[in-house]
Amino acid sequence: MSSRTVAEVYRETAVPEEAFDALINRSLQPRPATMLYDKMGTLGLAPGSLVLDAGCRDAKHTCELVARFGYRAVGVDLVEPNVVNAQRVIAERGMVGRVTAVQGDIQDLPLPSGVFTAVWCRDVLVHPPKLHQTLAEFARVLQPGGRLLIYVTLATDKLEPLEAQWLFETLVITPQNMSHAYLEAGLHQAGFVIDQIDQVDSEWREHWEEDGTCLTSQQLLRLARLRRNRDALIAQVGELDYLVELADCHWGVYQMLGKLCPTVYVATKCV
Ligand SMILES: C[S@@+](CC[C@H](N)C(=O)[O-])C[C@H]1O[C@@H](n2cnc3c(N)ncnc32)[C@H](O)[C@@H]1O
Repeated sequence: MSSRTVAEVYRETAVPEEAFDALINRSLQPRPATMLYDKMGTLGLAPGSLVLDAGCRDAKHTCELVARFGYRAVGVDLVEPNVVNAQRVIAERGMVGRVTAVQGDIQDLPLPSGVFTAVWCRDVLVHPPKLHQTLAEFARVLQPGGRLLIYVTLATDKLEPLEAQWLFETLVITPQNMSHAYLEAGLHQAGFVIDQIDQVDSEWREHWEEDGTCLTSQQLLRLARLRRNRDALIAQVGELDYLVELADCHWGVYQMLGKLCPTVYVATKCV
C-alpha cells in the first residue's frame, strides 16, 4: 500500500505549473559525444603518437582522432566487413599510411608488444567473453606509461534481471562485463592505474535531444512500431535484424532511464 493518497497525487503542484515546467525543461548542459575526443586531447599525446583503436568498426573515430591530433593509428575489428568499410573510410579521408585497419580479436591482438602510446576503446568492452585477458592485451601492446581511454556502458541496479537477460543475449553481451567492479579489477590485474572515472550517464543522449538529432525519442517511437508491427516486420527484414534493432532501441532508452550508465575510464599502464 502506498503511503500517499490519491488526493495528494492530484493536488495542485507546490510550485505554480509554469514555474514547475520551466524548472524541469531547463537544460542540464549535457556534454556532447565529442567530449570523448576532448578527453583524449587532455592526455597530451604528441603528434605522431601511435594509437590503437580497439574495436574500430568503420574507423570513423580512428580517422577523426588522427585528423584532430595528428596521431598515427591502427584500428582492429573482429568483423571482416567492418575492416573492409574501415579501409574505404581511411582511403576516402586520405589517411592511407597514417591509419591502418586490420582484422583481429582484441582478446588476442595480432600486434607486437610495447609499441602503442595509447589505446582508445569506444563502446566495445561489453562484448569480449574474456574481458580481463583483453585488458591484459591492451597492457601488453602499450609502452610503459601508455594511456588507455575506455568508453563503456555499465549496468545499474535499475536494470531488472529479466531486462538484462534478454538484452545481453540479444546483443551478445557478456553479463559480467557490465559490472564496474569486474572492469576495475581487470584494469588493476593488467597493471593499470585508474586516473579517472567519468560517468557520462545520459548526457550524450540528452544533448542529441536538445540539438534536434532526437536519437532516443526516435528510438522510443521505433519501439512502439516494432512492438505493434512485429510479425510483418520480421517477415520483411528477418528475425535477427528485427531483434537487434529492438534491443538497440531498448539500449538507448535504458541509458536515458538510468538502467545503463555510459562511463569513461582513463588509465595508465604502470611501468
Ligand atoms: C558498438 S560497435 C563500436 C564501434 C566503434 N568503436 C565506435 O565507437 O563506433 C562495437 C564494435 O566492436 C567490435 N568487436 C566486438 N568484439 C570484438 C573483439 N573481440 N575483437 C575486436 N572487435 C570486436 C564489433 O565488431 C563492433 O565493430
